[in-house]
Amino acid sequence: MQRKPSSPAFRDASRPVEERIADLLARLTPEEKIDQLHQCGVGDASPNNLAARADEFRPTYGSFILNGITADLALRNELQRRCVGESRLGVPAIFGCDVIHGYRAIFPIPLAQACAWDAGLVRRLCASAAEMARAHGVDWTFAPMVDHCVDPRWGRIAETFGESAHATGAFAVASVRGYQGAEHSIAACLKHFAGYGAAEGGRDYSFTGVSAQQLWEDHLPPFEAAVRAGALTVMSAFNDLNGVPASAHAELLTEVLRTRWGFAGLVVSDWNAVLQLVRQGFAADGAEAARRSFNAGVDLDMADGLFRAHLPALVRSGAVTAGRLDEAVARVLRVKFLLGLFERPFIEPSALTGAPPTEAQLALAYEAAVRSAVLLKNDGAVLPLAVTAGRIALIGPLATDGGALLGSWAQHGRGDETVTMAEALRARLPAGVGLDVAAGCAIEGGGEDGFAPALAAARAADAVVLCLGETGSMSGENASRATLRLPGRQEDLARAVATAAAGKPVVLVLVSGRPLELHTLEPLVPAILAAWQPGSAGGAALADLLLGRANPSGRLAITWPRTAGQIPIYHHERPRARGGREGAYQDIETAPQYPFGHGLSYAAFRFGELRLSAGSVGVGETLAAELEVANTGGRAGIATVLWFIRDPVASVTRPWRELKHFEPALLGAGEKRVFRWVIVPERDLSFPGADGARRLEPGRIEVWVGDQSRSFAVAG
Ligand code: NOJ
Repeated sequence: MQRKPSSPAFRDASRPVEERIADLLARLTPEEKIDQLHQCGVGDASPNNLAARADEFRPTYGSFILNGITADLALRNELQRRCVGESRLGVPAIFGCDVIHGYRAIFPIPLAQACAWDAGLVRRLCASAAEMARAHGVDWTFAPMVDHCVDPRWGRIAETFGESAHATGAFAVASVRGYQGAEHSIAACLKHFAGYGAAEGGRDYSFTGVSAQQLWEDHLPPFEAAVRAGALTVMSAFNDLNGVPASAHAELLTEVLRTRWGFAGLVVSDWNAVLQLVRQGFAADGAEAARRSFNAGVDLDMADGLFRAHLPALVRSGAVTAGRLDEAVARVLRVKFLLGLFERPFIEPSALTGAPPTEAQLALAYEAAVRSAVLLKNDGAVLPLAVTAGRIALIGPLATDGGALLGSWAQHGRGDETVTMAEALRARLPAGVGLDVAAGCAIEGGGEDGFAPALAAARAADAVVLCLGETGSMSGENASRATLRLPGRQEDLARAVATAAAGKPVVLVLVSGRPLELHTLEPLVPAILAAWQPGSAGGAALADLLLGRANPSGRLAITWPRTAGQIPIYHHERPRARGGREGAYQDIETAPQYPFGHGLSYAAFRFGELRLSAGSVGVGETLAAELEVANTGGRAGIATVLWFIRDPVASVTRPWRELKHFEPALLGAGEKRVFRWVIVPERDLSFPGADGARRLEPGRIEVWVGDQSRSFAVAG
């Protein structure tokens, strides 16, 4: 169908966006409007089979998801050509994709990124991911995930920024700025709104019982921060939240998001989340599901097609008002206008299209991988490895697995072009040092056939590096685990290797999307490095960290439990009614394996005395906390100062510690630096009640850094 040659107002880029939206709304038929509210997965579509599947991929649809393995720029542009050229008004579609931690070049998983404590780094990673994604036709990423989770059994813990609401908010804001603020920007999507990370027992998609107090304290603040930073879209979650599924939760989707926070962007449902209301027992059928979800505030229906199927009748019957329909369509169109899709519906191939990771991307991936690895243990300064002659045994199924370094949501990354730990180490060892590589066992399942060569290598070696962990798909969506044990025979392998190599330096490198249970292995190895899933340059980064060419500086953004039985365990727990051993586990330590914020370095940092600029602070004033940190070691390193508060007496009980501020800084050998946190009482010391209203109460507040604290008064 040819478009008429006239130039309607909505095509005029010089007019205000709201005017263009109103003009286009007035021209769309009800059917065309409803089609704008449908997001269609592309599955196995290709540019050549679109014509034969015209009914599946209609040119009037509002959006497509480029998640199929065949989805590429050519398909995207062909779909767009049909939308722009073959629909009556030529409204372009918006193309979404899960760009979670990179695109072809894969960066460390978000949980790892958080351990670098550097919002600027997160922003740069997202900007680079946006540039890559854009070159492949992506207008919109379903990221960042800003869910609050304190349960590493939930596979999606890998996608979180750790357990602190404050840090998650800071990284969410940085992500939004990275994705949306770059030259090649794409729309960001805050997900999953809300409470999804509280899945019962860590079982994905499960019921979530979250008190109003927890919701306002832990789950909602990162969303609010990122909404206020300008995120264009939000995704409604799968979970049933206290009896009302999040994708039909009017109070959250409309009262909180729109009325309280003033969000003007669009809300997309998660994949089939509208249909799932039926299974969750919140709607009798698809029509009721569509009505409840749409009227609650979901604007765009991802995948299940229920808005398309049922909104026509719902609008005719008055169960859905014409005003609500126009509101939702306006929100979809607003994002398209803001992204410039009407002016630039097509994306030209660039040098990045289909290209392997560039040197610049790999350099960024390397920087992030180095920064996010956490040195958990280093007894006797076993690391960095000081082998100048002899042999190193690199043992474990993760040593030669490039794909596992990429982690989940790495659909465009390639394991086969990713340098493995073994390759990276081999390339770096000085002449005269031999490297023996033995898998020992499979990551999952399998027997002991590989043990003998691994043990022989361990016996012959001067130092042993064990490289153990998870496959990429053991974390991420639908990847819940009941235990945090190393899968397969890996624990047995580690025990046997530690015995065979007794007295030698043995280093455990863990590649995983979550903290893993270490309490039986930890005593057997002097050094442990948590690599997480470090991405495309992970092999190089880990090899450099082991050999001391890079200095570890990551600090845990999540509490590391000893065992799954301790879950939930997190730094912002509230005081128990009784102290000491009362209420503590009788059969295992109550303290975690490694606390939140733990992480060692090859440098040595000495904390000076914590000082406050005043003994009290009032509303409208500020108070500064200062700490001098000296690098007394022999080499440069990044020191990260984590600032916590405790409000010992309040009208709502407060946690033992709450992270409120963080700052990393590179200190040269012998260098000193004063870290300073300027406390703004309304921002840093107030807390929400169960109604969401923040209060700042007079009384004493403790500031904590390391093991020091000082208290000051907040004037009434
Ligand atoms: C389901 C996941 O929960 C969500 O995070 C993702 O963005 C969508 N699928 C689209 O792939």
